[in-house]
Amino acid sequence: MSATTPATGAGPDLPDVQPDVLPAPLVAAAAAARRAGTSDEVWAAFEARVARELPRLVDLFHHVYGEGPRVDEELALLVGQLATSWQGRSEPLRTLDAQREADPEWFSSERALGGVLYVDRWAGSLAALRERIGYLRELGLTYLHLMPLFAAPEGNSDGGYAVSSYRDVDPRIGTMDELAALAAELRENGIALVVDFIFNHTSDEHVWAQRALAGDPEHRDFYWVFPDRTMPDAYERTVREIFPDNHPGSFVPFPDGPPGPDGRPTSTGSWVWATFHDFQWDLNYGNPAVFRAMAGEMLFLANQGVDVLRMDAVAFIWKRLGTSCESLPEAHLLLQAFNAVCRIAAPAVVFKSEAIVHPDEVIGYISPGECQISYNPLQMALIWSSLATRDGRLLAQALERRHALPPGTAWVNYVRSHDDIGWTFADEDAAELGIDAAAHRRFLNAFFVDRFPGSFARGVPFQDNPRTGDCRISGTTASLAGLEAGDAGAVDRILLAHAVVLSTGGLPLLFLGDEVGQLNDYAALEEPGHAEDSRWVNRPRYPAQRYAEREDPTTDAGRVFAGLRLLLETRRRTPELAGNRLVPFDAHDPALVAYQRPGWDERGATTVLVVVNVADEPRAVAPTTLSGLPDDAEDLLDGGTRSLARGLTLPAHGVVWLRLAHDCLG
Ligand code: GLC
Ligand code: GLC
Repeated sequence: MSATTPATGAGPDLPDVQPDVLPAPLVAAAAAARRAGTSDEVWAAFEARVARELPRLVDLFHHVYGEGPRVDEELALLVGQLATSWQGRSEPLRTLDAQREADPEWFSSERALGGVLYVDRWAGSLAALRERIGYLRELGLTYLHLMPLFAAPEGNSDGGYAVSSYRDVDPRIGTMDELAALAAELRENGIALVVDFIFNHTSDEHVWAQRALAGDPEHRDFYWVFPDRTMPDAYERTVREIFPDNHPGSFVPFPDGPPGPDGRPTSTGSWVWATFHDFQWDLNYGNPAVFRAMAGEMLFLANQGVDVLRMDAVAFIWKRLGTSCESLPEAHLLLQAFNAVCRIAAPAVVFKSEAIVHPDEVIGYISPGECQISYNPLQMALIWSSLATRDGRLLAQALERRHALPPGTAWVNYVRSHDDIGWTFADEDAAELGIDAAAHRRFLNAFFVDRFPGSFARGVPFQDNPRTGDCRISGTTASLAGLEAGDAGAVDRILLAHAVVLSTGGLPLLFLGDEVGQLNDYAALEEPGHAEDSRWVNRPRYPAQRYAEREDPTTDAGRVFAGLRLLLETRRRTPELAGNRLVPFDAHDPALVAYQRPGWDERGATTVLVVVNVADEPRAVAPTTLSGLPDDAEDLLDGGTRSLARGLTLPAHGVVWLRLAHDCLG
């Protein structure tokens, strides 16, 4: 079906998509909007977007769901929902919609800087967080990701990644009205609000799950429920286990039976799909009603003033027998359909992809019509690999061949997240450098959990799986970089890691607390529900002592903070570091990772040469290697001038950002 062919069939009329003819639900919504005082101009902007984006949405819907009255009915309901949502969008958000449509790359510049924190652990509550906006401004944040803050089961909720209601904030930290007020206040302070859109699964306490359990067939169809083990066994032949420590396989008994002797519900023998934990049930996107329902939840969040949705676990949303059930083509089509929904009814909103998978797959989610921004898990993992091996070749290779992105998109570059670190580099890339991928991953796991003699790292294994040999690493930046072990190079390693994410473009993301060198929090594992999940060591509470010491240069916190502040301030006045253009530079030393960031400053074309030394001793770039460059370079970090004629020596874990005037370049 072509993009402009109207859908046909029984059911409500829909959508006769001609630029000048609106589908019936929109005509009704238009009339209602006019009654509600929406100006012609505002409504016309909406109509224009419908004309542009609805054909794409209809087309995607038909690709995924086929055609027929049921599908048309769902589409009609969806379009009605878009109109209602648009009508409910506040004036300031509509203004923002218009601004961002005119400036679609608003999220990336040399001033763009992200931060991520848990409201409960870092601030206590939404109200308390408002008191700390001053500090977030001091850091220069323009983007703030609040870790999952929705209503969730008590005890283990996978850090809030099991959502019981997308419309309610966890009552322990505040209310949805407070979140909306916070969004507005952040916006006044130049900070965009990011929240998770956890759309692959809900918690087993979500009202849809509860209705499914109560026997409501409509909601049973919201999940992947099977009457016996036949289909689960068939799927499990090809599906990987994500949390094997917590539950093997991908299915759990569906507790739809009467209570057993212990009072807990039994199962009638049926099973439900649960990729992550047993209380996180995968939504069935094979059912178009699920898409519509989740589009409604998404637009609800958009209308609270959320600017960026972190699209959680994107790879898992579509299943097909006989496949890995990850990153299937339909997963992309569904993301594009969600993107079209936002373009129509909340165009200020952009998506961040969370795909922690093979780099070929990560890139597949990134485009203006799908997810505009994406975590860069490869760069993250390879920064750590370089520090462990004192060999930056894998990182340099990744910057050379896996850094390019389509226009209108950006990487979110980060040193570590709230999750474990997995070694997601491509085996074939490693092989080209003579590195055996499996052996290298084994080394990295041993190194980062301090099972390797002389290691500076104090990480903790996550989901150590002896059956598959798989293991991932938990730990804060400071503990992984050597601060916990008292290693002399620790502070410089922390700064080096940040210097890379701050100079490779896109949107760098700081994990709040890392700027003062917070260490692993082993006590967090004692909290209810955390025992079996080592990722909690890298989700510490607000490190008050370290924040108090941050202006004291004799402390670790002070040294990390001062170094990071210099990098942050320098980046803000270095326009070459914006965008994504990066030209590799071969420094002829495996310990030196070097690249150029071409751009402009107020005087014309320039380039910034970045060099970092991952070794524990000084390394030099030979004069001949630099011979094509101008003799004098502006050292952006120390404010001086460097003569390159005699080469360039970097101390252990050293970093330079050098501006070269372009008219001198060959
Ligand atoms: C994402 C989150 C992770 C969570 C998982 C399931 O990967 O980052 O913390 O466990 O999704 O929602
Ligand atoms: C993510 C990833 C997995 C990661 C986990 C969260 O979606 O696919 O590698 O470790 O979920 O911890």
